[in-house]
Amino acid sequence: MRVLLIGSGGREHALALGLVADPSVEVLFAAPGNPGIGTVAGMRDVVFTDPAAVAALAVECSADLVVVGPETPLVAGVADAVRAEGVPVFGPSAAAARLEGSKAFAKDVMTAAEVPTARAYSCADAESVGKALDDFGAPYVVKNDGLAAGKGVVVTEDRRAAEEHARACGQVVIEEYLAGPEVSLFVVTDGETAVPLLPAQDFKRVGDGDTGPNTGGMGAYAPLPWAPPGLVDEVMRDIVHPTLVELRRRGTPFAGLLYVGLAITATGPRVIEFNARFGDPETQAVLALLETPLAGLLHAAATGELAAHPPLRWREGAAVTVVVAAEGYPAKPRTGDVIHGAEVSGIIHAGTVRRAADGALLSAGGRVLSCTATGSDLAAARDAAYELVRGVELADSHHRTDIAAAAVDGRITIPS
Ligand code: AMP
Ligand code: GLY
Repeated sequence: MRVLLIGSGGREHALALGLVADPSVEVLFAAPGNPGIGTVAGMRDVVFTDPAAVAALAVECSADLVVVGPETPLVAGVADAVRAEGVPVFGPSAAAARLEGSKAFAKDVMTAAEVPTARAYSCADAESVGKALDDFGAPYVVKNDGLAAGKGVVVTEDRRAAEEHARACGQVVIEEYLAGPEVSLFVVTDGETAVPLLPAQDFKRVGDGDTGPNTGGMGAYAPLPWAPPGLVDEVMRDIVHPTLVELRRRGTPFAGLLYVGLAITATGPRVIEFNARFGDPETQAVLALLETPLAGLLHAAATGELAAHPPLRWREGAAVTVVVAAEGYPAKPRTGDVIHGAEVSGIIHAGTVRRAADGALLSAGGRVLSCTATGSDLAAARDAAYELVRGVELADSHHRTDIAAAAVDGRITIPS
């Protein structure tokens, strides 16, 4: 089949590698892509938040499947426009993508579906913000009520910082703090049938030991040796299926990738957030272990045929990915630095660009690339990923040195 992939980040590079490894894929196009994706796909230019432009490109490419990576085009209605041209698309409608696009909408769906999550208030003025902060106490959790690329959330002990973030955002959701290790579970769904991928963990804070500001994600690993047996079944039964039923009931079924961000608390798994697309960088780790051909799986979800799809097959062992970030990320990343050593298998490009004059590879974003490796166990995968990190040269770059370390050492515990 002919596949068009929309996006330009590390997640899309990982998706591109998975798609071209599927023998049923005869050609892959990517728009706008990045230099890593360009090694396996024909590159096209498109404003990917423009639904009509993406739909026209899908037709021009004679695509049999369009895969939409990022959330902004989904929330803008790109999947709707492609579907209206009769082209199968992996990615939810704009109406269903509100699960990610609006925190208040997601809370409303969860309440209706009786899905376990943090208690929360929607607040738009200083008085209601004050009341909500009083009710929950520290640590305070204040979320921008819109898309913020993983950076709209402040979790802090500092009352004044919580109030300032609320003021800067305007409309916010303030919620109860959930204590417990976090899990990212990706679920491929056609709206009815739902297939979980391996659970993963990502690292949101910029610094070792979960210090510093939140980022889009600094690293990830899969699967989770510390996860309680039955965790995935429990999440599918108590969270995923009730949510899919509620969205069908509302006439806006969710078909695509449902990303469930969870805290494993003393009272069981509870939803921190839903996203409407694959997570980045968890995708780099999870897809490194998937043996089942990816395009066939996503095509089945896009065409309502997931019930007939064979069970997923996974490689033995584990995968780890470590993000190499530009100087200044996340506050103010510096771009335009030359990168050496990145044209190596396992190095997934995100914020990179090729200089026209001489073809040199330059940094072009905050998260520049991620180093992804598999191994017979988590310790081996972790060593191999850091070996890749050591081979990358990018002036003043930084990365976390503790990705998957607590899991390898058996230091992750669920509160009781
Ligand atoms: P979100 O964008 O909603 O995933 O939030 C980003 C990060 O903030 C999450 O990955 C958590 O680490 C943290 N966070 C968000 N909500 C909560 C909560 N209710 N309790 C504890 N931590 C949270
Ligand atoms: N890894 C977090 C995210 O993709 O939102």
